[in-house]
Amino acid sequence: MNVTLRQLQIFEAVAAELSYTRAAEALYLSQPAVSMQIKQLEEMVELPLFERLGRALFLTESGKELLVYARKISQQLSEANLVLDELRGSERGHLNIAVATTANYFALKLLGEFNRRFPDTTMSLDVTNRASLLQHLDDNTVDIVIMGQPPITADVSATAFMDNPLVIIAPNDHPLATGKNIPMSVIQQETFILRESGSGTRIAMEQFFEEKGYQISSLMEMSSNEAINQAVEADLGLGIVSRHTLVLELALSRLAVLDVEDFPIMRHWYLVHRNGKRFTALAEAFQKLVIDESESLLA
Ligand code: PGA
Repeated sequence: MNVTLRQLQIFEAVAAELSYTRAAEALYLSQPAVSMQIKQLEEMVELPLFERLGRALFLTESGKELLVYARKISQQLSEANLVLDELRGSERGHLNIAVATTANYFALKLLGEFNRRFPDTTMSLDVTNRASLLQHLDDNTVDIVIMGQPPITADVSATAFMDNPLVIIAPNDHPLATGKNIPMSVIQQETFILRESGSGTRIAMEQFFEEKGYQISSLMEMSSNEAINQAVEADLGLGIVSRHTLVLELALSRLAVLDVEDFPIMRHWYLVHRNGKRFTALAEAFQKLVIDESESLLA
């Protein structure tokens, strides 16, 4: 197969955008140039890579297969670039991080500090849900992931670096707001607004309730911590969120953390990476900063 790196790069862009026009814009090429390259690639592999249904473009099965390899190849290339950069003694380079939605409350502070120490570095940050974080680890598309619920597999290493307590929140004027050691029998009568299935917060919460044999009822699910905090403030129900999401709400007395028996659910934040991943000097420096200094930087 005589495929060129350029063709794979264009293919990756079209697969990411599912549009020839947007891929062309992203790559500063003309749309006909992009379709021509894809056409040539399809001729070379003797299989269709995209199909058009109505106005929408989809990857075919062969397109999906090729995409896995195209991504691996571009990741390997950028790793090669970084390694060569290091051999040249450069502190420039790129740091690629992905963090769980909830971790975004503090990740930017850590990246800000990192940027002050390594001003010539560029960074990418993907703030996303747990399923995409697992995909990043699978595809080897980031240096480091910050998450609260690492996968249990021999393929990844996870290092805990900071507490991540889950607390029950209520509006500030809720009758339970002043309660002490509120029993779960009382809490079970309340209605909850929950994070979406699959989020680390939701998994940890469900494990906790199952282990303790408690049941709670929920009014709705939301995929954003801000939305939950606002819904609780609007008195739609109680919420269970990481304490990290509440700095502003508690400072402004908008919400109360309830004193409930067996709470908070004690968890940790983890730095996670693929085993055998070749760390760049920058990724190592970031890892060290997070492990050694996050408690003091984020206090
Ligand atoms: P999430 O946060 O709930 O935003 O996925 C990660 C976690 O706390 O495990």
